Amino acid sequence: MEIGIDQIGFFTPNKFVDMVDLAHARGEDPNKFLIGIGQDRMAVADQTQDAVSMGINATAEYLDQVDLDHLGLLIFATESGIDQSKSASLFVKEALGLPAKIRTFEIKEACFALTASLQVARDYVRAHPHHSAMIIGSDIARYGLSTPGEVTQGAGAISMLIKEDPAIIALEDGHTSYSENINDFWRPNNFQTALVDGHYSRDVYLDFFRHTFAPYLEEKGLEVKDFAGICYHLPYTKMGFKAHSIAIEGQDDAVKQRLSDNFQLSAKYSREVGNIYTASLYMSVLSLLEKGNLQPGDRVGFFSYGSGAMAEFFSGKIVEGYERRLRPAMHKRMLQERIRLGVGQYEETFTEAMQTLPENVEFTSDANRGTWYLAGQKGYVRQYRQK
Ligand code: HMG
Repeated sequence: MEIGIDQIGFFTPNKFVDMVDLAHARGEDPNKFLIGIGQDRMAVADQTQDAVSMGINATAEYLDQVDLDHLGLLIFATESGIDQSKSASLFVKEALGLPAKIRTFEIKEACFALTASLQVARDYVRAHPHHSAMIIGSDIARYGLSTPGEVTQGAGAISMLIKEDPAIIALEDGHTSYSENINDFWRPNNFQTALVDGHYSRDVYLDFFRHTFAPYLEEKGLEVKDFAGICYHLPYTKMGFKAHSIAIEGQDDAVKQRLSDNFQLSAKYSREVGNIYTASLYMSVLSLLEKGNLQPGDRVGFFSYGSGAMAEFFSGKIVEGYERRLRPAMHKRMLQERIRLGVGQYEETFTEAMQTLPENVEFTSDANRGTWYLAGQKGYVRQYRQK
């Protein structure tokens, strides 16, 4: 039975800050951000967008095409959780009117969590033929104003439907995993922003790539040339480019060219949005699907990395007619219609959105009609509404 990705929804908030503006404000050479880090713009979540509302929006994009009678599982992956106990998925379930009979929960392992959800969903579908699973990764990456990590922030969500006979990517059997208990990036309960040992995290990411990529090729009897493209977790695009450089080392020019072209295409959304933690890898997959020219049967590699740290490499094959399932025009419009914030406005918006919500508060949203947003809090319960 073939199992894989049948739908992909994508959401990012309606505001961004330009990297050249940010570089000028921080006294840096713009090329450090544009080339050294590899980012052009960074999505900014105001106080009306949190992990839940972004997850609802990403899922709403394809909900009308889901057979709800056969939906059995909903997993929400995030490291921007809004509650220490209750799963964010329950808010999504209510907002979108998903059936009461589904199994639903939230999971965490930094940016790896959406891959964990994908693998759990795959096993679920294998064990429950004719049933599907919905998985959501939604995050706001926050390091703080004027920190080295600031340029690698972002906000957004990806939602995917996993089922048999998928319309977009059929996952191949097998994976290679690698984990170690390390402290490269973490966020203690009393912190609103992440703590990070930036240069160490960069080294560990590459180390974990070496621990999973070559073993995967060996285990499956594959060569680098067997991949049409490889997608990476992109905390910022230069990070993925470093892993990509390891992958193509020693390959002939045609293979290098193909994988490099596809790497650049996979990084397009990330350059505009920034790090969205759990969903970053899958935003690169979507970018390659929508911006590239993949053919049915093409093999795409997935490198997933979550600080702490846990990594996995696996692959999938492009399904005939996959492009009919994609909505590139909608995503183009979502990015084009964003409001450009000056650095002062970004700082205000960022600071406001990090404040602890009082027991009762109401917000209005300037998002487009149809967008779900955080409308406030009543008795410490977050309230979500659609514009
Ligand atoms: P930094 O120390 O300010 O930057 O922070 P740098 O001095 O290392 O410079 C960055 C690059 O810009 C360098 O290139 C410079 O040479 C280049 P590299 O040596 O890396 O190839 N550069 C220039 N290039 C062109 N023109 C110029 C110029 N000047 C310098 N004028 C750092 C960078 C990434 C460390 C920081 O932003 C940070 O701490 N970010 C957050 C941590 C992070 O994203 N780590 C990635 C791996 S961990 C991960 O992926 C997991 C994560 O997503 C969390 C999760 O799992 O949940 C983060």
